[in-house]
Amino acid sequence: MSNVPFFESEKIADRTYKIKNAFTGDIDTFCYLAEGETGALLIDTMYGFGDLNAYVKTLTDKPVKVVNTHGHWDHVGGNFHFDSCYIPVRDINTFQGYIGFPKEQLFELAKNSAKDEYKDLLVLDENFAGTHPMKVYPVSDGDVFDLGGRKLEVVDCGGHTPGHIVLIDDMTRICFAGDVCNGNTLLEFDDCLPVSVYLENLKRLKTYAPRFDMMYGGHEIFDSSIIDEGIETAAKVIAGTDDKVKETGMTGKDICYAYKKNDDGSNEGGHRFNMSYDPERVTVDDVRGKVIR
Ligand SMILES: [Fe+2]
Repeated sequence: MSNVPFFESEKIADRTYKIKNAFTGDIDTFCYLAEGETGALLIDTMYGFGDLNAYVKTLTDKPVKVVNTHGHWDHVGGNFHFDSCYIPVRDINTFQGYIGFPKEQLFELAKNSAKDEYKDLLVLDENFAGTHPMKVYPVSDGDVFDLGGRKLEVVDCGGHTPGHIVLIDDMTRICFAGDVCNGNTLLEFDDCLPVSVYLENLKRLKTYAPRFDMMYGGHEIFDSSIIDEGIETAAKVIAGTDDKVKETGMTGKDICYAYKKNDDGSNEGGHRFNMSYDPERVTVDDVRGKVIR
C-alpha cells in the first residue's frame, strides 16, 4: 500500500475546498470541491495520482458529481476513480482519446513527480486506476449544477481548448476557471481556437464578471481583473503590437509569447497575464481552409 500523503486540502470559502496532490514536488495543479445541501461538485480531478474519490468522501458526505473545465490530462486524470463525469461537449473527443492509457505509465509519472522522500514509498496499488470507458455527460453554456441551496452555472469560454468552460458560483462569488486566463495561458496547440475567437469569448466572460470576485484556476489564482489583462493582451496579439517572443512550444512548433519573461519566470512589465500562441493561427482567416486534424 502506498504510504504517502496523496492529497491535501484548504478551505477557501464556506463549503468550498481547494485540493492538491501533497506528495508531489513543484507541480501546482488544483481541483475544487463545492458542497451544497443535497450534493457536491468536484471541479477537475488533476492527474489521477491517488484515489480522489475516497479523499473527497473525507470532505463531504453528499453525493459527488465530477465536472471538468476542459479535456486536458492534468484536469481529468482522476475521473477514472469515479463512475461518471460531465465534460464540455467540444472536449469529449480529447477525453475519449485517453481511454487505454495504462496505469503502469501513470504510476511512473507519479514516481517521477514525487518528492524524493516519497519516491520509494509509492507502490502500484488501487491509488492508480487504468483508464476505462465511463459514462460521460456533455455540458455547455447555460447548464446549471443545483447542489441544493447552491447553484453553479456553466459559461463557455473556448480558446485554450475548443470547449473550455468556467463555473460561476453565486454563493461564494467564485469563478472556477480551469486554464482559461492566467499567467501562462496556452493557445499554441493545434486544437486551440484562434486568438480572435478567444478574445471574443473573454469579452463575453467579462460580462459575467459582476457575479464573481476571484478566479480559482487549475494552476493559478487571480482576482477577476485578470480578464481585462487577457482582453488587452489578445487584442495586442491581433494588432501585432505584442512582444512576439519566439519560442519552441510544448509540441516542438515555433510559437510566440505575447510578453517577454524575466529570468524568474514572471512576465516583463508587471503583466500578470501572458499567453502563448501559434503565429499562423491568430485570426479566423488564418485557419480557414486548413486541413483539420
Ligand atoms: Fe489545460
